[in-house]
Amino acid sequence: MSIASNKSSMPSGSEIQLIRPDDWHLHVRAGAGLKAVMPFTARQCGRAIIMPNLTPPVITTELASTYYQEIMQALEPQSAFQPLMTLYLTNNTTAEEIQHAVDSGLVYAVKLYPAGATTNSDAGVTDIKQCYPALEKMQTLGLPLLVHGEVTDPAIDIFDREKQFIEQRLTGIIHDFPELKVVFEHITTRDAADFVRESSDYIGATITAHHLLMNRNDMLVGGIKPHHYCLPVLKRETHRQALIAAATSGNSKFFMGTDSAPHARGKKETTCGCAGMFTAFAAIELYTEAFENADALEHLENFCSIHGAEFYGLPVNSDQITLRKESWTVPQSYPYGDDVVVPLRAGQTIYWKLIP
Ligand code: NCD
Ligand code: ZN
Repeated sequence: MSIASNKSSMPSGSEIQLIRPDDWHLHVRAGAGLKAVMPFTARQCGRAIIMPNLTPPVITTELASTYYQEIMQALEPQSAFQPLMTLYLTNNTTAEEIQHAVDSGLVYAVKLYPAGATTNSDAGVTDIKQCYPALEKMQTLGLPLLVHGEVTDPAIDIFDREKQFIEQRLTGIIHDFPELKVVFEHITTRDAADFVRESSDYIGATITAHHLLMNRNDMLVGGIKPHHYCLPVLKRETHRQALIAAATSGNSKFFMGTDSAPHARGKKETTCGCAGMFTAFAAIELYTEAFENADALEHLENFCSIHGAEFYGLPVNSDQITLRKESWTVPQSYPYGDDVVVPLRAGQTIYWKLIP
């Protein structure tokens, strides 16, 4: 990465170059929604781990392959973007299915959603022991397990669900499969950051731009902001600071995963709004802002372009992107099939711009 200076606020017009980043946690949906949002990530990233929580969920290699073809058709013919497919783990996922997934060359990870934890997770895991043959096979083949790390017990406070997941679930999985690669997805707490840092090199974590930039006040002060509601939910400021420290530390266990999760406007602005923020339209710009605010731009490339590839055992991208310090106003909405999706910071300013 080349930067003119690492002062906390770079002058307008400054440019930085980065190895092209990858998004290690992305929702692109299907159908018209997919066509609408896929170009945003393809413009920024070399690759993205594609989440499997469609309806119905992507539970077999065959479904992953069909979804892969649909994504390829949503890309410009000359696009070099590579979707990295995932399987949605269920109680019934077999070791044979895992072997099949690896043999396909399309599937790069398997996603564990505790049943009921988040959007489209009803078919998720209710009894992790039933998944042990699949996990055993993944450990042998080096296929990473991606974990939505929240317990679903209604008695547990929503702000404590990630911490409880570590104690009640994650520790046991790691104990039983010490050489299974595990990505603790979209971590939101100091507890999770500490846990990952203190775990073996088989354990990594993604961190979203929105959890680096916002805390729960941004969702709840001055009126409820449905577009700032996501899962895991935004936490208090001390946790945001711990995430900033982890992301900007240079520690290779932490890497970019936007969790960009588009929903049609009406599904967010309603009495029971869906979880998820749409950030893919300016993912790298938002991360750059978070790193600049922390006076840590020298670690941006590691976090966005190198650490994730290393964790997955893939080469880093061979080309570069350029970002310019240039303010622009985010549109109120972007087209989303017959509908629209409201982006993060709609109508507000973003301070960096990917060029061209
Ligand atoms: C995601 C979605 O909408 O698919 N929502 C979210 O709030 N992040 C699901 C998820 O990653 O939990
Ligand atoms: Zn997600």
